[in-house]
Amino acid sequence: MLLMFRKAVAAGGRTYQQCRLFSLSCSSRSDRKGLVLGVYDKEKDENSLKFTEAGEAFDRSVSGRLRELLTVSGPALTQGKSRVFHAVRQDFPSVAVVGLGKSSAAFCSQENWDSKKVNIRNAVSVGCRQLQDLEMPTIEVDPCGDAQSAAEGAILGLFEYDELKQRKKTVVAAQLHGSSNTESWQKGVLYAEGQNFARYLMESPANHMTPSCFANKIQQRLKSVPDKVEVHIRPKSWIEDQQMGSFLSVSKGSDEPPVFVEVHYKGATNTKAPPLVFVGKGITFDSGGISLKSSKNMDAMRADMGGAATVCSSIVTAASLKLPINIIGLAPLCENMPSGKANKPGDVVRAKNGKTIQVDDTDAEGRLILADALCYAHCFNPKAIVNVATLTGAMIAALGSAAAGVFSNSDWLWDHLREGNVVTGDRVWRMPLFEHYSRQMTESQLADLNNIGKDRGSGGACTAAAFLKEFVTVPHWAHVDIAGVMTNKDEVPYLRKGMTGRPTRTLVELAARLSSDFN
Ligand code: BES
Ligand code: ZN
Ligand code: ZN
Repeated sequence: MLLMFRKAVAAGGRTYQQCRLFSLSCSSRSDRKGLVLGVYDKEKDENSLKFTEAGEAFDRSVSGRLRELLTVSGPALTQGKSRVFHAVRQDFPSVAVVGLGKSSAAFCSQENWDSKKVNIRNAVSVGCRQLQDLEMPTIEVDPCGDAQSAAEGAILGLFEYDELKQRKKTVVAAQLHGSSNTESWQKGVLYAEGQNFARYLMESPANHMTPSCFANKIQQRLKSVPDKVEVHIRPKSWIEDQQMGSFLSVSKGSDEPPVFVEVHYKGATNTKAPPLVFVGKGITFDSGGISLKSSKNMDAMRADMGGAATVCSSIVTAASLKLPINIIGLAPLCENMPSGKANKPGDVVRAKNGKTIQVDDTDAEGRLILADALCYAHCFNPKAIVNVATLTGAMIAALGSAAAGVFSNSDWLWDHLREGNVVTGDRVWRMPLFEHYSRQMTESQLADLNNIGKDRGSGGACTAAAFLKEFVTVPHWAHVDIAGVMTNKDEVPYLRKGMTGRPTRTLVELAARLSSDFN
């Protein structure tokens, strides 16, 4: 009996005949609309479930039908769980109710994030994906008390890289349900679209996303925000003129020419104010070079340009948000390949600042291209330099995919990053820059520096950071190692499996926070 009742409920509590009549009177297939509504955990002293404001209003409009359906259709919806009901109201043929967890959720010091925002992103993404599977072309989303987080959950959750597949997911237009909070919603859309652009660049196969293609994509994308933005695509001859011998030594092993992308965004009232300079590692494929990687999972090394992707995407986003700050983005782009022209272990190369480097492992190539880009970053009288790189496997061992590691010589810069990551939920965690690690990089037999630590097996993320520090003289610098957060299996529920585009939103948030210091 109960089973029969549940079956009827799943169809909206109507008989088959009623459902048919209902669906016949519904709008045509192309303008079918889905709706995502939130519900909180029941508190101990409450005996009825608690909808969000929008959920409550919807339930009232159907005379308490939704509450009734939710109660009889199964167990209470816990955080991140979702259930879809059909034919409850004519204008929304399918409604996904999603569990938001405790209504009291807020900043959690142990997790170092705002749990309310995280819960909203998780829940909304699940609901949106369920409705996408039902091929809904439009989905309206409950702001759940934080429209920005709801927009991020929707836009990030719906993204899938299927450009090269014949069968594609339904393209969904996610819209805010109700008319208030539009500004906050729109901000969330821009943040999430920024991260999705980085995901797109990272996920693209290396034979498509070559250095030149990457540069063109950035140029094209910046056409949508032409105001106050300049892009320079520097060819190999320019890189040679700059005496970037370390970068060139990596690129010469490949048939693809290197490119150096330079993006300028002048958002501050004083266009001459010292900029925030972002530098991103842009290895479009890392085979390891002569120190060849094993072939297992080598395909993931198409995303070894994640640093370049996230810094360029964050500048696109900062420009769309019209942040009042000057930002320069620098991305050395090339492949790391083995060939007759490639670097050999023991080779010595000379960086732009004159320092010589013994290349004992050609797979430690990220630091070689960043060394020259960091030297160049100093030409712009920067207020701060932040470099982002999928730099070391050791970073994956240290923090896994929970947070990116930040190595910084500046408490001021670190504080801004830390504040930013609490809001975005895309976490960063501070790591050490001890002299201890520097000593391991500066004792080279043939040159000023070695590109791998003396104590090979240990502290690899820290010795890599210590190497980069040798190319920094400004007081505010941070190196963000994003190797651990490059991919997602299922750890971050609002991102599908694949390349993550992390931590684009945290970089945007950093720029937003620094804006006030720039004018
Ligand atoms: N791109 C890799 C680091 C990496 C590994 C990023 C896995 C994302 C996932 C980097 O160029 C590299 O190969 N680093 C070496 C350095 C070592 C030879 C000192 C590493 O970490 O093994
Ligand atoms: Zn490598
Ligand atoms: Zn690499």
